[in-house]
Amino acid sequence: MKIAYFSVIIGLAVHSALAVSTKQVKPRRTTSILINLPASSDNTISTASDVGLNLDDIQGDILIGMKKKKELFLFFSINDTATFKSKLASDIQPLVTTTNQLLAVDTQPTTALNIAFSRSGLTALNVTDDLGESLFNDGQFADAEALGDVKDNWAPGFAGTSVHGVILLASDTDDNVNDELSNVQNILGESITEIHRVSGAARPGDQEGHEHFGYMDGISQPAVEGFTSNVLPGQALIVAGEFILGASGDNTTRPDWAQGGSFLVFRQMQQKVPEFQKFVLDNALSVPGLTRDENADLFGARLFGRWKSGAPIDLAPLRDDPDLAADNTRNNNFTYDHPEIAGFDIATNQTNCPFSAHTRKTRPRADFGTEETARHIIRAGIPYGPEVTDAESASNTSSTDASLERGLAFVAYQSSISNGFHFVQQSWVNNANFFFGKAVPPGVDPIIGRVQDSAFDTARTVSGTNPLNTSETITLDTEFIINRGGEYFFSPPISALSGKLAA
Ligand code: HEM
Repeated sequence: MKIAYFSVIIGLAVHSALAVSTKQVKPRRTTSILINLPASSDNTISTASDVGLNLDDIQGDILIGMKKKKELFLFFSINDTATFKSKLASDIQPLVTTTNQLLAVDTQPTTALNIAFSRSGLTALNVTDDLGESLFNDGQFADAEALGDVKDNWAPGFAGTSVHGVILLASDTDDNVNDELSNVQNILGESITEIHRVSGAARPGDQEGHEHFGYMDGISQPAVEGFTSNVLPGQALIVAGEFILGASGDNTTRPDWAQGGSFLVFRQMQQKVPEFQKFVLDNALSVPGLTRDENADLFGARLFGRWKSGAPIDLAPLRDDPDLAADNTRNNNFTYDHPEIAGFDIATNQTNCPFSAHTRKTRPRADFGTEETARHIIRAGIPYGPEVTDAESASNTSSTDASLERGLAFVAYQSSISNGFHFVQQSWVNNANFFFGKAVPPGVDPIIGRVQDSAFDTARTVSGTNPLNTSETITLDTEFIINRGGEYFFSPPISALSGKLAA
């Protein structure tokens, strides 16, 4: 603790004494910014140059994925275009962390910084080029109803198009993040106004890596062709152009300056944790041989498709298996199909995993026959907000105190929002009939599914949660997740920050 404190002080002293580029004087790290859990896939480079990826130009958050310890999202509007452009090129660009820098601990900065712009932000910078994504052009607020959101729940800052950009600051301590935040605020001064902020942090102790409902997150990420050297069993190997504009497999016409960028979807998703815990207990299953708590855990695991440990229920259908969860050569190696079981029919059999489970709705695997490749996203979110208080636990009710709001700062990268996040949310998660052609309609994704088209009082139904009677349907009368809004951003290649965007 003390060493970290002094290194920050020394770093600051050196910084102010020399008053030169922060990038050159930052102390090198000895511990990683990123959480490295054995359960997660680990993205490292194989042959990036072969597929045209310039890892010194691609912002660090995009390909590395969801693994930060602390992360602040600062949403801003631009007031003074000329000053902002000048500072962006001269002082912000040198602070932006590249993919290459993030890959090795000794090249990671004290605090990683990335920056992305909304359509209204690019327009404020007088950049009107078409990036080939209509949802980005209109902004997320215009998409809210199609996503099934209740607009009244949106945080005021997100309602409309006033957010021009977001600065992402990630490190292992709050002090580091706050230090870099002050630095950025000093640089940009009055050229920007803060509109909103979300402060993310990995959960404490043994919950590190788990989202607020308690389930291990960030296990299944797509492997990126030409970037991921060690493709793990069960990982989908996807062309880089699904995530990076202009990379191999991206067939949309993009302006030259935008190649190497990616669309960043941000969603502030409030989680009502005590309400969720109560719902899971109230709906405990009655599988013989399991205690009530085990039956409740099984019900929760069937909503997600994974146990709290991260073990997939398709491989551990009755009881959690922490060893399986921690083994990244096995914990993603399943398809929902079971040719080894005589007579198993993937269209009717939900004994191991409901068709509606969150992981199955968002990546149906063998339900498609062969893995579908066009809908993958790289998730890079982080939990935000404090742990549940005793008073909230005792009352089974989330506090209305804004400082106690908690949830997931959801971040997803893709080269097409229409094919990626938006499609998954609208056409899979929210579509009660998806996956099509099953013996029983699956219902919505019980975690993030919404009934669309303003019918917000229509009950959400889910089937398959009871392994003893998989045609049974339950009604979700409690909202566990409140979508508080977000924005569609473009995370440009770093060269554009002193090029096109600063011109
Ligand atoms: C508060 C909101 C959310 C929570 C609590 C949550 C939680 C989880 C958890 C626990 C997993 C399993 C761990 C893993 O496989 O990495 C998971 C996987 C996943 N989630 Fe979510 N998630 C949320 C929102 C979303 C949203 C909005 C989307 C996209 C529309 C999404 C897409 C996915 C995908 C694609 C996977 C991986 C599925 C697989 O490859 O097997 N999630 N999520």
